[in-house]
Amino acid sequence: MMKRRSFLTSAAALSLPLRAQEPAARIDVMIGEPVGRIAPEVYGHFVEHLGAVVYDGIWVGEKSKIANERGLRKALLDALRAVKPAVIRWPGGCFADQYDWRDGTGPHAQRPVRTNFWVDSREWAKQARRDGPENFDPNHFGTVEFVRLCRETGAAPYLAANLRSLPAQDFWRWIEYCNSPAGSTTLARQREADGEREPLNVSYWGVGNESWGCGGNFTAEEYAVEFRRFTAWTPSYGVRLALIGSGPNSDNRAWTRRFFERAGGAGLGKLWGWGAHHYSWNVSGGRTRNWFEGKGDAVLYQEEQYYELLREGNDMESLIRSQWGVMGEYDPQHRVKLAIDEWGSWHAPGTEPFPEALLGQQNTMRDAVLAALSFDIFHRHAEKVAMTNIAQLVNCLQSLFFAHEDKFALTPTYHVFAMYAPHQGAQALRTEIAAPSISYRRGEGTGMLPRLSSSASLDDKRLTVCVSNLHMTEAAEVEIRVHGGRPGKVEALALAAPDPRAHNSFEAPRSVEPRAAKAELAAGVVRYRCPAASVTRLTVELG
Ligand code: AHR
Repeated sequence: MMKRRSFLTSAAALSLPLRAQEPAARIDVMIGEPVGRIAPEVYGHFVEHLGAVVYDGIWVGEKSKIANERGLRKALLDALRAVKPAVIRWPGGCFADQYDWRDGTGPHAQRPVRTNFWVDSREWAKQARRDGPENFDPNHFGTVEFVRLCRETGAAPYLAANLRSLPAQDFWRWIEYCNSPAGSTTLARQREADGEREPLNVSYWGVGNESWGCGGNFTAEEYAVEFRRFTAWTPSYGVRLALIGSGPNSDNRAWTRRFFERAGGAGLGKLWGWGAHHYSWNVSGGRTRNWFEGKGDAVLYQEEQYYELLREGNDMESLIRSQWGVMGEYDPQHRVKLAIDEWGSWHAPGTEPFPEALLGQQNTMRDAVLAALSFDIFHRHAEKVAMTNIAQLVNCLQSLFFAHEDKFALTPTYHVFAMYAPHQGAQALRTEIAAPSISYRRGEGTGMLPRLSSSASLDDKRLTVCVSNLHMTEAAEVEIRVHGGRPGKVEALALAAPDPRAHNSFEAPRSVEPRAAKAELAAGVVRYRCPAASVTRLTVELG
C-alpha cells in the first residue's frame, strides 16, 4: 500500500505553487521569565490493543525470528530509548473499558483468547486478515510484558483501568497485583509466577477512558459518582498514586464543570490529572467532524486541508486555557493538572502501512509540524500540563514508527520527538513571536493561522529554541534575540523537505530526517532561514 502512496506523492508535488517572497519574522526569548519546568511526562506515549499496535508492532514473541528482547521488537526498543519516553499509557483507549487485566496473567499458553473491542470497526481495510491477534487477542502481551516495555525504555507505566465493564474491586486488585510487596498477597505471588517478584510500583492510573463515549456513555454526573466509587479507597503500598480522570472531548467545558462540581471535596482530593483528548481531524473548513466521514487523505492534501489540520492542532492552546480556567473554579490552588492523554492527527483510511494496521496512516511533514506546534503549546503552558500522550506509538494514527514483520521505519513525527528531547525537564521560557499571519481559503471564507510556532527552554547554560514555519510554500527569514543572556555559539538541526507531503515508508525509510542547517550569529542576534513546512531546533550556548 505504501508504494502506491509514494508514487502519488511525488506526482502531486509537481502542482505545488512556486515560492513567493520571504517575510521577516522575529522571536524574542526572555531568559529571566521562566514559565515552569517542562515535565518529562509531556513526552509520553500511548499503546492500545488496536489493529497492529501491540501484536506485530511491539510484541513479536520470544520465539520470533525478528530481533527481540523477551518478545519485544528490538528495533522499536532501541529507537524509543533514544527519544527518552517518560511515560507510556496502556491498554487503551476504548479497549481499556473492555479489558480484564487478569486475562493477561499466567502462562502464555493458558491465557484466554478474547474478542477485541475494535473487531467491528468500520475502518478496517478490505484486504485485512480478520482472524489474527488484532481481532482475537491471545493476551500474550499483559501487564508484566507492558511494564517490561516501559522498564526497557526508561518510561513510567500508566495503566488505564476498566470503569465501564468491571467493578471497582477489580481496579484495586490490579493495583494489588502490580504493587503489593513480594510474596505478600496471592496476587503478588501471581506476579512472581509471571516473572516479576518485586513490585512494579505503578504510580499512574487512569480511571476509565472517554467515559462520555466508548467508556460508558456516562453523563458527567454519573461519571463523578463512578469515579468516587472507584477511588474512595485504593491501596497505596508506599507508592504515590497519581489518578487520572476521564476528561473532556476537546474543549467540552460543560463536562469538566459538571464533573468537578459533582465529584467535589473528597472526590477531587484523589485526582492528580484531568485527561483531555484532542485530535486534529483532517477535515476541510466547516465540515462535520466524526470518526467515519469527511476526513481527508494523509498525503494527498491540498492547501486548505494542510492549514485546517494545523488550525485544529493550534486549538490545543485555547483548550488548555479554557479547561484550566474551569478547573480553577473548583480547585483554586490548581492541585490537579492537565494530562492530555490522547492527541494527534486523524486522517482518512487508505494509507495504512499494511492492511492489519487499523487506523494506521501515513505521516508527512504536515504531521511533523503539527507535533512541533503541539509541543510548543505544551511548553508555553508548562505549569498547567503535567503529561501528554500522543496517539499512538506504532502503526496507528500519528505514530512514531511503522513496524511489520521484519520491516521497520521511523516517521517524521519520531524525528520531532528526538529533536525536542532536550526540552524535557528544562525551564520553559516566555517567548514572543512577531510575524505576519497566514491567511488561506477556508470553505467560502478565509482562515488565519500564525506563520511561526516557537518555544524555548533553558537547561543550565544550554538554551534550546525550536522554530516551525507553518507556511506550506514560503520560507521565512527569522531573527532571534535573547534577552538576559548572550549567545556564544549556535547550532541548527532542521527537519525539512522540498515537498510538505514528503514522508517515510518501508521502501524509502529515510526520505525525511533531520539534517544540520546553517544559523548565523552576529552581534548577539541569531539569524536563520526557516524552510517552508519545516521544524528546526537551535541549540544556543550562552556565554
Ligand atoms: O486512539 C484511538 C481511539 O481514539 C481511542 O481508543 C479512544 O480513546 C479515542 O477515541
